[in-house]
Amino acid sequence: MVDTTRIVTEIKEKFKIIGRTEELKQIVLAHSVGKNILLEGNVGVGKTTLARAIAKYYGTNDSNFYRVDCSEELLPHNLVGYFDPPLVIAKGYNEDSYKNGPLALAMLNGGCLFINEINRMPENTQNSLLTALDEGILEIPKLKTIEAHKDFFVVATQNPAAHVGVTVLGEALKDRFIWINLDYQQPEEEILIIKQEADLDHTVALSAEKIATLSQNIIQATRNSTSIRRGSSIRGAIDMATLINQYENTSSTNNWVEAAVMSLHNKIELEDGLTQSKKEIITNIVLAVLNKSDFQ
Ligand SMILES: Nc1ncnc2c1ncn2[C@@H]1O[C@H](COP(=O)(O)OP(=O)(O)OP(=O)(O)O)[C@@H](O)[C@H]1O
Ligand SMILES: [Mg+2]
Repeated sequence: MVDTTRIVTEIKEKFKIIGRTEELKQIVLAHSVGKNILLEGNVGVGKTTLARAIAKYYGTNDSNFYRVDCSEELLPHNLVGYFDPPLVIAKGYNEDSYKNGPLALAMLNGGCLFINEINRMPENTQNSLLTALDEGILEIPKLKTIEAHKDFFVVATQNPAAHVGVTVLGEALKDRFIWINLDYQQPEEEILIIKQEADLDHTVALSAEKIATLSQNIIQATRNSTSIRRGSSIRGAIDMATLINQYENTSSTNNWVEAAVMSLHNKIELEDGLTQSKKEIITNIVLAVLNKSDFQ
């Protein structure tokens, strides 16, 4: 049995993670029995933060932490490796002319392969992961078969498939991961995150607590609004709090509206067929939140 509680506490302290105790327990448990982990959740919910923390915690040093950020252009050789043509001409198909990719290196050195936004990986690249994941084997034609070091593991992240611009992760690949879901955190935890990330040390009119609370209440209201299909992640609140903190008067309604529009405009998606603009909807939300608080 692993000492899950101690490991979770260590990870939270080392990587300044607020809340997420339950999810981290699940992650530590899955890792302790040698499973690969897929973290799924909406934009900005903290997937990369948790995945990076877990990967770095278990990778004993930076040299066995391998990160791949996926896009539609990520080809199998970017993951596995490739023969370098000039070296092949000079030396032939052998070890010296082969450049190992992050998957091969993580398997050889027993490190963590962190695959960010795995659902953006093209299907043929996904296929090159399959045998590595369940048999711990990677075939490199004309050269060698790599057998994974016992400490090799994979942590991946993905947005839920319903999101626009996202391909569906192949069934075969999905089957090889333990799934851990991340929802939005509780308001109290989000307020702590905003305070930590938005550097609110030098506020004058409003306290850091107040700025963080109002920012959290505003993003929360975007998530509950019937005009908004996709509300703001915590990034919206971090940006808003950081901006508002730069104004001379942090207790001006106009300044809050301005900072909120700048921070949230790109981060929310409206329902179809509305007559109001995004700016108007954000303005109304800010005014409603400020009215409800004891904001003068
Ligand atoms: N539990 C947490 N503790 C501390 N900071 C957090 C936590 N969750 C999220 N954050 C902060 O919130 C921001 C967004 O988190 P992150 O980038 O990990 O989200 P994501 O789910 O990977 O987003 P995307 O879907 O856009 O890739 C970061 O600044 C991160 O530091
Ligand atoms: Mg991310």
